[in-house]
Amino acid sequence: MTVTTEAHMRAIDENTITEAALEQMASTPNPRLKQIMAALTRHLHNFAREVDLTPEEWLEGIKFLTAVGQKCTAYRQEFILLSDTLGLSSLVNALHDRRATEAGTKSSLVGPFYRQDSPTLKLGDTIVTKPTNGQEVCLYGRVFNSAGRGVPNATVQVWQPDETGNYDLQKHDPSEMDLRGTFHTDADGRFYLRTIAPLGYMIPMDGPVGDMIRAQKRHGYRPAHIHFIIGAPGYREVVTALYLQGDEHIDSDTVFGVTASLVTGVNSKDPASPIPNLPTIKFDFHLPAAAAYGSGRVGADPSQIVKKVAS
Ligand code: BEZ
Ligand code: FE
Repeated sequence: MTVTTEAHMRAIDENTITEAALEQMASTPNPRLKQIMAALTRHLHNFAREVDLTPEEWLEGIKFLTAVGQKCTAYRQEFILLSDTLGLSSLVNALHDRRATEAGTKSSLVGPFYRQDSPTLKLGDTIVTKPTNGQEVCLYGRVFNSAGRGVPNATVQVWQPDETGNYDLQKHDPSEMDLRGTFHTDADGRFYLRTIAPLGYMIPMDGPVGDMIRAQKRHGYRPAHIHFIIGAPGYREVVTALYLQGDEHIDSDTVFGVTASLVTGVNSKDPASPIPNLPTIKFDFHLPAAAAYGSGRVGADPSQIVKKVAS
């Protein structure tokens, strides 16, 4: 019997496989999906060639990703945690900031402890609802637009861990909110509230991402920070966080959320404090004008995931 080889039949080897895969995907009608999948395939193949990936290592990777998926629940997003710890979430934030039509406050991670339905409070109110040993502070600043004018009635959502580095969701029933609130700026774009200075904390380490962090001999900590989502009609929503200087992990955040312009500190003598005789944390935010692509929330709101699962 004679075996004939078709003249056009390509020999698939460790190099031609990439072109073969890209050719097959070329039929994708959605241009953005086509671009993303082609680039993903090229980089994935280059990665395997670069490290000369063995079948055992490939299977290890499959097992790891399977465990990451299996760790996910309505309240726990291990894939986002993986993205965070690989620096991908912060990279996506930085790319998002670059697309803004005007300069604004840099984005930072939403993280897993955001709640959309925090209580609406008045300027000067406290977000502390539980007994605490934390250092009370006045958190204040202004929300500006790119013309340098204060943005009135901007929504300022704030949430943070306590003086032990725990969020309410880690300590209490989800129906009990603590250390979170929604405020509205005054006619000059000012906001001010009472809270306590937060402590840094370890990311959730009881899953496969924690195993990865330990295998890499990383410490797993985030420096002390306070989260914000700030928005107003006509402006691009800013999703960010302030980081407290002096924290020992300020330069080695496990999820790469810290950038120099978001670092601030506790000022024990601030004559400009809107609440006299309290140490202050002060920060002014800058909102770029709204653009077509909307908000940059890289992260999950557990309460919303639960709602979707329930419906
Ligand atoms: C946080 O800021 O709460 C956070 C962000 C990313 C991963 C884990 C925690
Ligand atoms: Fe956080």
